[in-house]
Amino acid sequence: MTSGLRKGLTSYGDDAFSLFLRKVFIKAMGYSDDALERPIVGITNTYSDYNPCHGNVPELIEGVLLAGGMPMVFPTISIHESFAYPTSMFLRNLMAMDTEEMMRAQPMDAVVVIGGCDKNLPAQVMAAVSADVPAIVLPTGPMVVGHHRGEVLGACTDCRRLWGQFRAGKIDEAEIEQIGGRLAPSVGTCMVMGTASTIACMIEAMGLSLPMSATAPAVHADRRRIAEATGRRAAEMAKRGGPKPSELVTPAAVRNGMIALQAIGGSTNGLIHLTAIAGRAGLSIDLDEFDRLGRDVPVLIDLKPSGAQYMEHFHHAGGMPALLRELQGFVDGEARTVSGVSLSEVFAQAEQVPGQTVIRSVDTPLSPQGAMAVLHGNLAPRGALIKQSAASPQLMRHTGRAVVFDSVEDMLARIDSPDLDVSAEDVLVLRNAGPKGAPGMPEAGYLPIPAKLARQGVKDMVRLSDARMSGTAFGTIVLHVTPEAAVGGPLAIVRTGDRIALDVDARRIELLVDEAEIARRMAEWKQRPAHRAPAQRGYAKLFEDCVLQADEGCDFNFLQRDGGADSDASPRLK
Ligand code: FES
Repeated sequence: MTSGLRKGLTSYGDDAFSLFLRKVFIKAMGYSDDALERPIVGITNTYSDYNPCHGNVPELIEGVLLAGGMPMVFPTISIHESFAYPTSMFLRNLMAMDTEEMMRAQPMDAVVVIGGCDKNLPAQVMAAVSADVPAIVLPTGPMVVGHHRGEVLGACTDCRRLWGQFRAGKIDEAEIEQIGGRLAPSVGTCMVMGTASTIACMIEAMGLSLPMSATAPAVHADRRRIAEATGRRAAEMAKRGGPKPSELVTPAAVRNGMIALQAIGGSTNGLIHLTAIAGRAGLSIDLDEFDRLGRDVPVLIDLKPSGAQYMEHFHHAGGMPALLRELQGFVDGEARTVSGVSLSEVFAQAEQVPGQTVIRSVDTPLSPQGAMAVLHGNLAPRGALIKQSAASPQLMRHTGRAVVFDSVEDMLARIDSPDLDVSAEDVLVLRNAGPKGAPGMPEAGYLPIPAKLARQGVKDMVRLSDARMSGTAFGTIVLHVTPEAAVGGPLAIVRTGDRIALDVDARRIELLVDEAEIARRMAEWKQRPAHRAPAQRGYAKLFEDCVLQADEGCDFNFLQRDGGADSDASPRLK
C-alpha cells in the first residue's frame, strides 16, 4: 500500500513523473528529502477571522506540529454559528464534502481534525468516516466563564436568559451592552452544554479523541498539551495505518455516543449530528432505542442549561473519563478508542476529585431520566424530540390552543405584536422551518415568549416546530417534528385555534382534531410554502433537492453510505 507523498498521485499518465512533479513543488516550501519520506499527518486548519470559536487553532496546530511525522496543514471551510447565513446547518454538509474531498485529494496517512463551533466537528467526523483516513479529533475547547456584577455567566444560555430579561424590561440598554462584552470572555466554544460541548463530549465517548479533549478550556495549558499528544498519536497512526474511522465508528461506539448525549444533558442537535455520522458508516439510529436509553440513563452533569455550572468546572472535576466511569453500567467498555486502548481502560484512569459537584453519581443524579425524550403521535409520524431536562415540569403534560406561525418570517413579523391573540396556556407552533422548508432547519424552535406575555412574567410556554434549537436554549420545546411541514408533514395543516396535547411521560404529541378533518386538510395541502420560491441553482438547489429529514441526520441522500431511507423521495445524484 502506498503512503506518504506517493499516495493519491495526480493523474498525468506517468506515476513517476507525477511524484517527481509533486516533489518539485513541495520543495519550494523548504522540505528536505528526509521529511518528504515520512508518513504524512494532515491537519485541518479551520482558523477564520469569522470564527472566534476557532481563535486558538493556530496554537493548536503548533502543538500538533511538535509531534513528528510530516505534518501538512490544509485549509477547509470554517463555520461560526452567528456568521452563517441563513443558518450554519445549511453549510454543514458543504463543509463535510469539502473536508472529505480534500482528505481524499491530498496525500495523508492520518489526519488531525481541529474544530469546535457547533457544525464543524460533525462535518469533520462525517468527512473522516467517508474518506476512512485514520483520523483523530482535536476540539478547540470551551471558553472560560465570564463575570457580571458578582454572577458567573457564559455564552450562550445566559445570552438568552439575559436577553429575555431585557425584552421583559428588567435590564436596561446600558446594562445589556455591558453584559454583551462579558458573555464570551475568551476564544473557544460556548462553555455551557451547548451543541459544541455536546459534540465534543460525544466524540470523546465514541473514542474518536484523546481523554479530556472535550473539556479542557480553549486557553488552558492542558489544551496545548492535548494538542501535542494528539499530534503524537496521529504520527503513530500514520505509521501504522490505523485505526481508521471504520474500525472505531461501530454500533457500540454510536450507542456509547447516545448514552453520553443523554447523561450530559446534551443538545438536541447532538442527535441529528450523531445520526449523520452513523449514516456515513452505514449505521442508523433507532429513535426508540434512544428514547429507551433516556428512560434509564440519568442526567449526571450539572451544567447549564440543564444545571448550573460550566465546562471548565466539568474539566476540573475529571472530565469525560470521570463521567464514563459513573456510566460504566450503561456504556460498552470494550469499545476501542483512537488512543489504542479500550474505553474501560480510559475511564479506569479517570481522576477522583474529592468534593467536586459537577459529575453526579447514578444514585444522586441531576435528573433521574436522560436529557431527551422522543415523541410520537399524529403530529409527528416519524418522531419529534423534547429536551426534557431543560423543560418546565408543570408543562410536561399540557393541552392548549395552537397559535400558528407559517414561517420564521411570519413569526418574526407577529410574535411581538400587541394584537397577537395569545395567552400563556397556548401552544406556539412554527412550521416551514425544517431541513427543506427554511431551508437548513434553523435554530428557530426556541420561539421567543411573545413580548406582551414576557412583560407579564411568563417565562415558558409549550412550543412546537420542525426547526432545531440551540443546545444552549431551554424551555418546553418540541423540536424536529418529522416529516416537516414543507414536505407535507401533518404540521402543515394545523390551524390557529386547534387544540394540541403534549404528554412527555406517554411520549405523545397529538393534534386533537378528528381524523376525517385531518384527512380532508391533508388532501387540500399544496406543496411549497407560499412565502419562498424554490432554489433554482447552486448549492441551495443541491441542498433543497437532496437534504434528508431530521431522523436521517439532515445529510444529503447521496452522501450516506447506503443513500438513506429517503422516504420523501428527494431526487438523487447518480
Ligand atoms: Fe461557536 Fe457557540 S457560537 S460554539
